[in-house]
Amino acid sequence: MQSSLQPKSPALVDGLHVGIIMDGNGRWATRKGMSRLRGHEAGVEAIRRVVEAAPDQGVGTLTLYAFSSDNWRRPRAEVTGLMALLRVYLASEVESLARNGVRLTVIGRRDRLPGGIADAIGRAEAATRSGRTLHLRIAVDYSARDAILDAAAKARGIEGLTRDAFSDLVTGEAGLRDVDLIIRTSGEQRLSDFLLWEGAYAELHFTQRMWPDFDADDLAQALASFRGRERRFGGLDAVPLAPAQSV
Ligand code: IPE
Ligand code: IPE
Ligand code: MG
Repeated sequence: MQSSLQPKSPALVDGLHVGIIMDGNGRWATRKGMSRLRGHEAGVEAIRRVVEAAPDQGVGTLTLYAFSSDNWRRPRAEVTGLMALLRVYLASEVESLARNGVRLTVIGRRDRLPGGIADAIGRAEAATRSGRTLHLRIAVDYSARDAILDAAAKARGIEGLTRDAFSDLVTGEAGLRDVDLIIRTSGEQRLSDFLLWEGAYAELHFTQRMWPDFDADDLAQALASFRGRERRFGGLDAVPLAPAQSV
């Protein structure tokens, strides 16, 4: 019964799991007198930079919050623009992700995504399935509370359900590492329904940097701050962090 009493302690082999709430695209653009959509476009460039930098910085799994289930409340033109960007990203990026050993998975609901995107996601996941350098998870139409609710529905009737088995249902992935660090850009300090289960013991890092300006150095700074912390998981002793360059 130990697993139901203790938080899963981090494995040391596969690199850290970092989640990023990529916030501030709209304000970044507005301050420059540009449309919010231009900010989202610049945000895609930041995604490219961070995905490229992550493996060398000891990140094995990177979960990026791209569109929340509550973001459907935004004006239709912005939602349409964001979906178009997602479509372009999937089409243009798959080849280089596969070439660089990045395995892409998309978490969240797919049934509300506009025409063809769900299929494009399936194709991108299939094409990058064998990637071992980095597991890139993009959260689209994602709500952590809904993910937990869906898992609870699936778990109904399973006898002797363990915390680990329930985690697999929440994340949709067998043995996914708990989130080590959640970064949020743009100065906001809240989780906005992101990784509430997997992030139970995540360290939090908030930066004023707007997402379109975020780069490899900002990631390195966040990780340096993370590595300077002591994680205790409820006990009294510090649990060793994953090694600095573990992938
Ligand atoms: C984050 O930037 C991207 C999405 C939520 C899709 P925002 O669009 O939230 O930017 P701000 O917070 O309005 O500046
Ligand atoms: C959270 O940002 C979602 C994403 C970054 C995709 P929001 O900008 O939507 O969050 P709130 O509304 O400020 O909490
Ligand atoms: Mg925002």
